[in-house]
Amino acid sequence: MKKYFLALLLFCLPFAMIAQTIKNTPQPQLSKTTVKQVIAAMTIEQKAKLVTGMGMIMPGPTANNDKKANDSAAATLRSMLPPTDPEDAKITEKVPGAAGRTHGFSQFNIPIVTVADGPAGVRISPTRNNDASKTYYATAWPVGTLLASTWDTLLVKKVGIAFGNEIKEYGVDIILGPALNIHRNPLGGRNFEYYSEDPVVSGNITAALVNGIQSNGVGTSIKHFAANNQETNRNSVNVIASERALREIYLKGFEIAVKKSQPWTVMSSYNYINGAYASESHDLLTNILRKEWGFKGLVMTDWFGGKDAVAQMKSGNDLLMPGTPVQTKTIVDAVKNKTLDEKILDENATRVLQLVLASPAFQKYKNTNSPDLAAHAKLSRMAASEGMILLKNNKQALPLTSAKKLAVFGNTSYDIIAGGTGSGDVNKAYTVSLLQGLSSAGYTVEKDLQNIYEQYIADAKSKRTKPKFFFELVPPVPEQALAAMVLQKEAIITDAAIITIGRNAGEGADREVENDFTLSSVEKDLIKTVSDAFHAAGKKVIVVLNIGGVIEVNSWRDYPDAILLAWQPGMEAGNAIADVLSGKVNPSGKLATSFAVNYDDIPSAKNFPGKDLVPDGAKKRSFFGGVPSEVTYEEGIYVGYRYFNTFKIKTAYEFGYGLSYTNFKYGELKFI
Ligand code: BGC
Repeated sequence: MKKYFLALLLFCLPFAMIAQTIKNTPQPQLSKTTVKQVIAAMTIEQKAKLVTGMGMIMPGPTANNDKKANDSAAATLRSMLPPTDPEDAKITEKVPGAAGRTHGFSQFNIPIVTVADGPAGVRISPTRNNDASKTYYATAWPVGTLLASTWDTLLVKKVGIAFGNEIKEYGVDIILGPALNIHRNPLGGRNFEYYSEDPVVSGNITAALVNGIQSNGVGTSIKHFAANNQETNRNSVNVIASERALREIYLKGFEIAVKKSQPWTVMSSYNYINGAYASESHDLLTNILRKEWGFKGLVMTDWFGGKDAVAQMKSGNDLLMPGTPVQTKTIVDAVKNKTLDEKILDENATRVLQLVLASPAFQKYKNTNSPDLAAHAKLSRMAASEGMILLKNNKQALPLTSAKKLAVFGNTSYDIIAGGTGSGDVNKAYTVSLLQGLSSAGYTVEKDLQNIYEQYIADAKSKRTKPKFFFELVPPVPEQALAAMVLQKEAIITDAAIITIGRNAGEGADREVENDFTLSSVEKDLIKTVSDAFHAAGKKVIVVLNIGGVIEVNSWRDYPDAILLAWQPGMEAGNAIADVLSGKVNPSGKLATSFAVNYDDIPSAKNFPGKDLVPDGAKKRSFFGGVPSEVTYEEGIYVGYRYFNTFKIKTAYEFGYGLSYTNFKYGELKFI
């Protein structure tokens, strides 16, 4: 018996020793070995987790900072989203309110990488654990459309440098932006995030911002690649476009940005292009993006974008965000049953690890959570004033040098819109209203009128139901009709009138033509009656447009003396507008998107947002699920000025338009 036992022991010993050695052999560490060795040591399950994110725990704060509303919104949203892996959910988020994170594997020294929205600032929760003593507010930069209107790549790069610093100091590795889809149609709900109707402007502004941000050693994700030009049915619309239109208009900006700035990542879009999901298109993500343009980074999906995880892997969409356990399992099963070549998974996982290697998380960067918000606010104000466009200035109505007491009309003068809604919205500590901006610039705002507006806005808001989710659009309070006596009195007791017209839009819905692209009859009346009353008293009227996308101007622009297109200028809005109105800043912004005379003049008007392929589509749509639909880009390359110029269609204000307080004389061009 003893003999047997001894023989068995001698037989087993080497195996036990080998097993012990394997156990003790340290796993390859990402810092010390090559990415290849790490990938070789990982199981299929681990690699599948590496290419799918950790899910969405929390959508980020709601539009208001009400805790109860936040919690219930989060719970409702969670119930609508695919479930997260319970094990992942236990891992505390490094940056609460960030949009997502990748899986970490401590045994291989692979840290978690954190990504956050969005193009106009770092979108994270402003408070943590209900502790109001320390806040995490971020700078709300001017929206994309305004930045593009500066045409100033040096300034945009400067914004990028400061923005990137904030990303890094708040512990984020990659910002989900810039966003550079084309302004195909002014009703596009996210146009405020995007730059222009022109891909060359879009691509160059993107490259400048990316170069600035990435100079901090943090990454960007240029989005949404590609042809994501509408919000209606965004997850299910099939964009039908010619190869030429795609190449020359919808892909061109991305090509320029990739070649000039090598963003760390590209985000594929939700929509189909000519029948294939963008996130599942090998042609788009591998042949064009990588092989033709030389993109070296990683491709991630938009949140819950696409359907087929295996097709996404095969197409070169390396990272599925925010990632679900179902996707992970699908990938594992596909490798095991040989419908997905493990080599492809290895390539995708390799790109994730290359991204990890570059991240601040991997460098163990100790973020301070205290970026220099005061310095960034100054830069935000400066950039905002640089992108504002003077559309009209009769008889030098502006700058307001002698006028000191102002009658301020329009709800958004008192409740200014810093930026659009949805994931592009930033949790900022404050927004300077126009009223505050004017007061700080030394103007007096007439009090009785102020009271009328403040009372009216407070009443209207108290009757509204609170938004359920962060992405729910809260449109500006509709304008009120003011009594003729009020106008006459204001015209007598003040030096000039300012009327602000506001518009807001955002992720999840496109704008409407009626009362959104066009002004409401009350708004038009307001401009006309205020102009009549003030002109009768020999005083000037200035209209400020606090909008994220193009509106109709032709029917009312003759009434006021001056029109300043202020866009959505970020958190320093009121100060930046006052800087231009007062002449502290000479306006130099130029339109990067044409203002058509009528909506029907716009080449895509007949084909926006396309047609539902099921009956009663509009009733069946939800934020996360569109209905099958298609949109044909019949206008081809004739988008914006390419159309207006070629077909000699008159615009209200053309691409490139913008006045200044200085008069310029152009002489004959000479080569020197
Ligand atoms: C948006 C993206 C955003 C992502 C994460 C999506 O709904 O389309 O632009 O980056 O959510 O919040």
